[in-house]
Amino acid sequence: MQNYDESDSVAAGFARHDEDTTDLTLVTSGQIEAHLKNANAEDRAWLTRQNFNARKGDLAWLADGSALVGWDGKDDLAALGHLPMRLPEGCYKFTHSITNLQAIGWGLGAYQFDRYKDATRTPARLVLAVENDLVEVMNKVCATLLTRDLINTPSQDMAPSHLEAEATALAERFGAQIDVTTGEELLDRECGAIHAVGRAAADQPRLIDLTWGDAKHPKITVIGKGVTFDSGGLNIKPGASMRQMKKDMGGAAIAMGLSYLIMAQNLPIRLRMLLPAAENAIAGNAFRPGDILHTHKGLTVEIDNTDAEGRLLLCDALSIACEDSPELIIDYATLTGAARVAVGTEIAAMFCKDPELAAAVSAAANVTDDPVWPLPLHDDYTYMLSSKVADLVNSATSGFAGASTAALFLKHFVNDDIPWLHFDVMAFNTRARPARPEGGEAMALRAVYQYLEQRYGDT
Ligand code: BES
Ligand code: MN
Ligand code: ZN
Repeated sequence: MQNYDESDSVAAGFARHDEDTTDLTLVTSGQIEAHLKNANAEDRAWLTRQNFNARKGDLAWLADGSALVGWDGKDDLAALGHLPMRLPEGCYKFTHSITNLQAIGWGLGAYQFDRYKDATRTPARLVLAVENDLVEVMNKVCATLLTRDLINTPSQDMAPSHLEAEATALAERFGAQIDVTTGEELLDRECGAIHAVGRAAADQPRLIDLTWGDAKHPKITVIGKGVTFDSGGLNIKPGASMRQMKKDMGGAAIAMGLSYLIMAQNLPIRLRMLLPAAENAIAGNAFRPGDILHTHKGLTVEIDNTDAEGRLLLCDALSIACEDSPELIIDYATLTGAARVAVGTEIAAMFCKDPELAAAVSAAANVTDDPVWPLPLHDDYTYMLSSKVADLVNSATSGFAGASTAALFLKHFVNDDIPWLHFDVMAFNTRARPARPEGGEAMALRAVYQYLEQRYGDT
């Protein structure tokens, strides 16, 4: 189904040929004695002199040109994630079996964002054994690389029209249908909230709507917040808070990466991807605090703060998503600073009405090393969203439980009988870790895919 060419493989840190490979062996500290015993005298002396303790991240070269890689024994992304940029350029293979998750970690560690500056080097390339299905590993790696590239691209080159072009390319690649509602057309379609957020920007707001797959398969709808730059609007952000706001389309980028993976893996579902895309800009026609918006659902929303714009994009997309009664709605959004205060930047905050669904996704997150943590959708906090002049305000006056009140705002737009997962994500690594370079990141993508595959996969 997927055709990857040589340049895709290089970018993902893999090689197909297995000539001229260097052998690698994972070693835990518990195995070191045995290794020393089996090694020849020269290697034994050398390993001892290097004080090789097989700690995670340690690397030791042997006389035959192969290398030992220290390992903590965990099956996670970090096991091999540091190697593509740590080992000299060339091709490598393991002397023992590795898991698909470890192979994915290698691929994710090979990522470099080279659109505006040449990469400093080619990543070391791994030749996978046949038991690690290379196409599946590549699909999972490439889904994340797509997401990262979209997020890392600055707003000047990732405006709503560029997001549309990316979605169109995705649709063409997999034979999906795409429909886009742009600018004033949003008002005809009664998407007053998406329109209000994006109308002050030169690049018009839009709703990107992609569908793929057999109409008889279960319907799953994936939504992503596509704010291509969040200035805060008239409630302008201070400089430091605005600095990274090119990543405010991270939810859309993750939805796109997840859709890529679903289509590349040919998962038997009927996929719908909805990306409300807008730049939250400032101009004479910007929406204002006190304005009252007419949402697609018919609810009116009083604007308390123009910087609470993500929930406005999502509310129209969520009510449109409900119209064809999907079996599950999943949304991703860089929605609140409060979610980051609650769980930090490295965990996706998850909101879900159904505890069983939440538990299944948490379990999938654990096996994929793609951490999520549930936060409460506590209905009793809904009072914080009441308005004297409209059905809702877009932002509570108190910041307490800010991620929950944002999620409760969204809940008004999701039919009670439709299962719904909401992820409030950072979509950005603020520090470099093995397999997780600094910059844009696909959070809760592989976790959700794992859940969907378990539930709908036919293998
Ligand atoms: N995009 C931001 C949230 C954000 C900021 C996510 C930093 C990740 C890192 C969002 O649009 C926003 O500005 N939210 C406000 C909401 C508030 C005005 C109710 C926030 O969190 O401060
Ligand atoms: Mn904002
Ligand atoms: Zn935002």
